[in-house]
Amino acid sequence: MSSEEKKQLRPLIIDIGSKNLRMGWAGDDFPDIIAPSVYVNNTDYLFTSDVIDGLEDIYITEKSIENHLFGQEALKYSNILKIHEFRKESNYNIFPKFFYHHYKQLKIAGENHFKHPIIIISPFFISELEKTKLQDIFFNVFDFPSLLFLSESQAILATLRKTSGAVVSMGEVNTIVTTFLHGFSNDMARDTYPIAGKDLTNYLLNLILSKKGSGKTVYFDKMIASEIKEKLSLVTVDPEGEIKKIKDGLTKYNRNINLPDGTSLEINSERFMLCEPLFNPTLIHIDYIGLPEAVSKVIKFWDRENWEDILPNIILAGGSSLMPGLDERLRIEISSHFSEKLTDNIKVLSVSGRENIGWIGASVLWAQNKLTKGWIQNPKHQELNKKQELEN
Ligand SMILES: Nc1ncnc2c1ncn2[C@@H]1O[C@H](COP(=O)(O)OP(=O)(O)OP(=O)(O)O)[C@@H](O)[C@H]1O
Ligand SMILES: [Mg+2]
Repeated sequence: MSSEEKKQLRPLIIDIGSKNLRMGWAGDDFPDIIAPSVYVNNTDYLFTSDVIDGLEDIYITEKSIENHLFGQEALKYSNILKIHEFRKESNYNIFPKFFYHHYKQLKIAGENHFKHPIIIISPFFISELEKTKLQDIFFNVFDFPSLLFLSESQAILATLRKTSGAVVSMGEVNTIVTTFLHGFSNDMARDTYPIAGKDLTNYLLNLILSKKGSGKTVYFDKMIASEIKEKLSLVTVDPEGEIKKIKDGLTKYNRNINLPDGTSLEINSERFMLCEPLFNPTLIHIDYIGLPEAVSKVIKFWDRENWEDILPNIILAGGSSLMPGLDERLRIEISSHFSEKLTDNIKVLSVSGRENIGWIGASVLWAQNKLTKGWIQNPKHQELNKKQELEN
């Protein structure tokens, strides 16, 4: 057996995010596949009036005659077909097709298809119903032998060799705050914070569209807003002060963006204002505390004498944690919720590769032989094994 074939018998680690699917072999440094969690249906046109005869022939090429297109291939049609986000739609009917589309790209030798275990990275709030559905798909639609649901924050903490700390995982739909003390977690010491990447994208979209004095129609949509956010966003410690500096002509934030319709757009304070809903949720009409307070509250669930163990290990994870300056702003604002004696201890860690750190953590744990418990066996395989045992 070649080393490539051997590798394909290791568990496949899957992180099914709202924005991105991450998939690859346990023991590797990085997922083989990172693909947008979207699909299109090739009859689901964005145009509501009659579609011009022949339009579909122009856009939907022969290669894509199938009903659905997935991931990057789906995004190519974003101008004429409706982009569906199956995670946000909780669409479990489409997931097996989406999964298989990407599974094929792993180029697994035919005889090894569905022979290896699956590790699913999951947030703490994954429901039993969701687990059952995923289990049904991986055991019955496909025929994988075993499955492990692994908590994302546990994987992150273990990778960084920490047993106490707080993980702030900021993805597309949720920001999940989890705390651990000496390896233990507690249901009460967690928070699903309601603001994450998609809210910041929407807020940026609104900031730009409502920009006074722009005086012209701009071609602008969520995809462009998301791209601008990912390339240009930053977090400042004192946004009001920075706005004043901009007004006084001390600008250092302005950037010109060329839009697809040939026009250009200048953005300035929007680059740092877009993240402000994380600190002041009322900006987007959400009645909730700011993220620094939410993190502090969750830490304070533990007894006072334990805070010192958790505060030096506040770990940022997920795509939305990539905004430069976020760590410093969080550190300063979290400090304001603790006594001065503790503030020197507070550290917010932005490790590189943190957008994939859940996946990487699972891979490291497997390589260290630490994922031996909690596996669910495919009942069909168990019956088969029993039968074989009896026959022998
Ligand atoms: N450089 C960046 N700066 C700011 N935001 C970013 C950057 N890169 C990615 N993002 C944002 O991160 C989010 C996606 O993060 P991630 O891939 O961790 O989410 P996910 O795992 O798919 O979603 P979830 O965990 O919420 O289900 C998106 O909102 C994206 O716009
Ligand atoms: Mg995620």
